[in-house]
Amino acid sequence: MTAQATKQQQLADILALAPVVPVVIIDELAHAVPMARALVAGGIRAIEVTLRTPVALDAIRAIASEVEGAVVGVGTVLDGQQLEAARVAGARFAVSPGVSPKLLDAADASALPLLPGVATAGEAMSLLERGYKHLKLFPAVPVGGTKLLGAWASPLPQIRFCPTGGISLASAPDFLALPNVACVGGSWLTPKDKLQVGDWAGIEQLAREAAALR
Ligand code: 3PG
Repeated sequence: MTAQATKQQQLADILALAPVVPVVIIDELAHAVPMARALVAGGIRAIEVTLRTPVALDAIRAIASEVEGAVVGVGTVLDGQQLEAARVAGARFAVSPGVSPKLLDAADASALPLLPGVATAGEAMSLLERGYKHLKLFPAVPVGGTKLLGAWASPLPQIRFCPTGGISLASAPDFLALPNVACVGGSWLTPKDKLQVGDWAGIEQLAREAAALR
């Protein structure tokens, strides 16, 4: 098996853990562990912590070492340095909003599987050439949502997508019904107001609803 094939198998396993991958913005490091425990208790194990706040890497480190059952990933990865820092912190997968040649070279050299964002068939074809079989459609709803994914299913049958951006509990089933959708991403499981007040039971309930989507 090539290194890329191994990483694609790891991604397939991670994306199969639940129908939804929560996309999380952590403002307070102290929120990371109880939030992840609530998600796991609700049946959501793969968790994408975005690199959008200063505490994000520490949050990944804390979840990786303290939350049994969690498979923590890093989101909003823009370059190879971030990829490596997240791998060292304990991330098991990485997600990027788009692709750049430098990021893809760094991902080839890294053991961390990357789920790269695409919005066009040309980007998807370039990634297929590099051995990618799992891609994020981003931002899913603005670029065409279920209609776009439905149109790509026949010409690009090798690719499984995790559409992210603009998806809700109500619209997720339409995406999950498509043959080329592995799971969806979304921020609705970890709303800022629930994080701020430490409403872990509320987050567990949102996770439970998301986990029951399939
Ligand atoms: C993001 O950019 O934060 C993710 O794509 C999540 O998007 P959402 O908030 O529309 O779920």
